[in-house]
Amino acid sequence: MRQLLFFSNNKNKIIEIKKIFKEFNLELLSLNDLNISNEPEETGRTFEENAKIKSDYGFNKTGIPCFADDSGICIESLNWKPGVLSKRFLNDFKSNEACFNSIIKSTKKNRKQNAYFKTSISITVKDNQNLIFNGKIDGKISGQVKGRFGFGYDPIFIPKNYNKTLAELSTKEKNEISHRSIAVTKLINFLTI
Ligand code: IMP
Repeated sequence: MRQLLFFSNNKNKIIEIKKIFKEFNLELLSLNDLNISNEPEETGRTFEENAKIKSDYGFNKTGIPCFADDSGICIESLNWKPGVLSKRFLNDFKSNEACFNSIIKSTKKNRKQNAYFKTSISITVKDNQNLIFNGKIDGKISGQVKGRFGFGYDPIFIPKNYNKTLAELSTKEKNEISHRSIAVTKLINFLTI
């Protein structure tokens, strides 16, 4: 059976991705399965660059075709930041609540509500040969923090044509529209042609 490595140590993501790949004739491995604990520094300026850094690293270490993802939120009132620094930006506040309130304040002050989430997946199949698949979901920053599902910035992001935040949607509903599922679907379509 063909092997494929998913370059991630994030338990939730690994469970989600393994579930999706179950029906395909592929042995999906994660870093844990190969006892790899080192990860490269994510020094890229874009989601695409960071995903490539990780998928190249995994392929170079193991010789197994490898894919990796990188995601984040881009907010108009913050000049489309924090982008690739989304995780750090949230962690730099003393609580998620404090971060969300600061974003909502800047959105109201600048009268700019737009935002989007983006995921880039890079798959490295041979030495220095990689492909990128992107997924994006447009929306706006909510006026209030709302909802208890999901993670990260979900409680302040309202997808376009919805009137609820991502944290008010069930996991199933979120997965039908999310940036991550769009990028993963493109990867799967490519792998199964
Ligand atoms: P990662 O590259 O997928 O680990 O995402 C980096 C950071 O972006 C996360 O720690 C979250 O703060 C944020 N983020 C990415 N995807 C989502 C999402 O679907 N909902 C909320 N926050 C997200």
